[in-house]
Amino acid sequence: MTMGFSRIRSIVVLTGAGISAESGLSTFRLKDGLWDNHSVEDVATPEAFLRNPALVHEFYNARRQQLSSVVPNAAHEALAKFERNFSGDFLLVTQNVDDLHDRAGSENLIHMHGELLASRCSNCAAIARINHDLTTNSVCSNCQCAGTLRPDIVWFGEIPMGMEQIYTALAKCELFVSIGTSGNVYPAAGFFQEAKIAGALTVELNLDPSERATGFDIRHYGPATRLVPEFFSTAVRGLSTVDTPCQYP
Ligand code: APR
Repeated sequence: MTMGFSRIRSIVVLTGAGISAESGLSTFRLKDGLWDNHSVEDVATPEAFLRNPALVHEFYNARRQQLSSVVPNAAHEALAKFERNFSGDFLLVTQNVDDLHDRAGSENLIHMHGELLASRCSNCAAIARINHDLTTNSVCSNCQCAGTLRPDIVWFGEIPMGMEQIYTALAKCELFVSIGTSGNVYPAAGFFQEAKIAGALTVELNLDPSERATGFDIRHYGPATRLVPEFFSTAVRGLSTVDTPCQYP
């Protein structure tokens, strides 16, 4: 039975830091990645922010500043183009806090780990769009309190964003594609299993096999800027329900 392009009605795509690597943004766990140069416990937990907010602001300010010097790559563009032309349900879930999917034009997009270009007030909970540095003296534009702003980022130990919408989409998707993620961090690392339970075909597009690689039906390895345009412009059109999982070099 072929599940040709026209037969797929619902797609969920998950991306991680690897899709932004060729735009020049660091990943977390590759050599010289963000977690090689910073300790999660010092910059990416609520306890770290309570202990040393200035250090946490410094870490996210540097990453926010970098956004003005990078642009979306062919992988981001290919996903946005596919979404524009796809008549079914398409949800892009990203673990990334950069704005490259947004700038590429992706619409139905959830930043499950938050966004560098947003702040959150611990006094009034207001979320504001920002593109400047945050400091321990920054003033909330809503309640005018000083020193109550944090990056609108989901830290370790906090609940990711959009989870109800994500699980609803996974429960009815027919195709799940994981791009540029090591599969190290839950709940994102478990999304492909939710999709499998729903009967979806699961695909991994990555530089090298992730921690969850063997669970995927189809696996392609290489740079996202080659794999993603290729997969979304050709393979999806001719996609057939594979009888046996196939691994591509
Ligand atoms: N093309 C495709 N994949 C790539 C490329 C590339 N050019 N470069 C790197 N990769 C792959 C790596 O092989 C790796 O599997 O991207 C993945 C990046 O893995 P991580 O650095 O662990 O990043 P990610 O999976 O997004 O981390 C998930 O962990 O620390 C938290 O909140 C953080 O959102 C992050 C989460």
